[in-house]
Amino acid sequence: MRARHKSWTTPYIDSHRSLVSENLGEEKEFLVKAPLYLEIGIGKGDFILGMSSLQGGYWVGVEREKDVLAIAAKKVVEAEKTNILLRDGDFDSVYEEIKDVRFDAIYLNFSDPWPKRRHWKRRLTTRERLLKMNSLLKDGGKIVFKSDNRDLYQFTLEEAKEAGFPILFFTEEYPGGEDDVMSEYEKNFRSKNKPITRVILGKKGE
Ligand SMILES: C[S@@+](CC[C@H](N)C(=O)[O-])C[C@H]1O[C@@H](n2cnc3c(N)ncnc32)[C@H](O)[C@@H]1O
Repeated sequence: MRARHKSWTTPYIDSHRSLVSENLGEEKEFLVKAPLYLEIGIGKGDFILGMSSLQGGYWVGVEREKDVLAIAAKKVVEAEKTNILLRDGDFDSVYEEIKDVRFDAIYLNFSDPWPKRRHWKRRLTTRERLLKMNSLLKDGGKIVFKSDNRDLYQFTLEEAKEAGFPILFFTEEYPGGEDDVMSEYEKNFRSKNKPITRVILGKKGE
C-alpha cells in the first residue's frame, strides 16, 4: 500500500518515537510482555487497533511504507492505546532486531501478491520468510494469513507444505469471525463481495 507522500508524516513519526520504534532491539521492556502478537504489513492500522482491543495483549506492528505507517500511528495516538508498538521498516531487516523475541501469533493481512513470477521471491510467504516467522513463535504459536488473492493463497499453502508446517486451517471462503477484525483491505473487498481466503499455520518443530 502506498499513500501519496504527505509532508506531515515524517515529522509526525519523528515526534512519536516512543510509539514508532527506531530499533526493536532496544524495546526489551515491551517485548517481554505477554501475550505478544506481531502483524507484518499493518497498512493504515485498522486490524492492529481493533485486535488490540478485542483480543487484548501486546501488539507489534511492522510497516515499510512510512506514509502509511504514520496514518496508523495517528490512529493509535488518538485511541490512546498503550499496548501497541510500531516499527517502520521491512520485515527482513526488522527480523534481525527481533530474532530473540517470541510471539504468540503472527498476522499477515492482504500481503502484497506480487503476481509476476519473477517477483514471487518478494512475497512475504516464501518458505524462507515463513521459516523466519516460525523461529519467532512461542511453542503453540501460529501464523494467521488472510487474502483476497487466490494465487497468493495457493502459493502460501504450497510453501507451507514444502517447509513442513502443520496446516491447522485453510479455506477459500472465510466468512469472518467474532474473534477477528477486518483490515482496511478486507472491508473494501467484502464490500465488493470478493471471497476472502484464510490459512492458519502451527509452529513447526525445529
Ligand atoms: C496490500 S497492503 C494491506 C494493508 C493491510 N494489512 C490491510 O489488510 O488493509 C500490504 C501492506 O504491507 C506492507 N508490506 C509489504 N511487504 C512488507 C514487508 N516486507 N515488510 C513490511 N511491510 C510490508 C505494504 O507496504 C502495505 O502497506
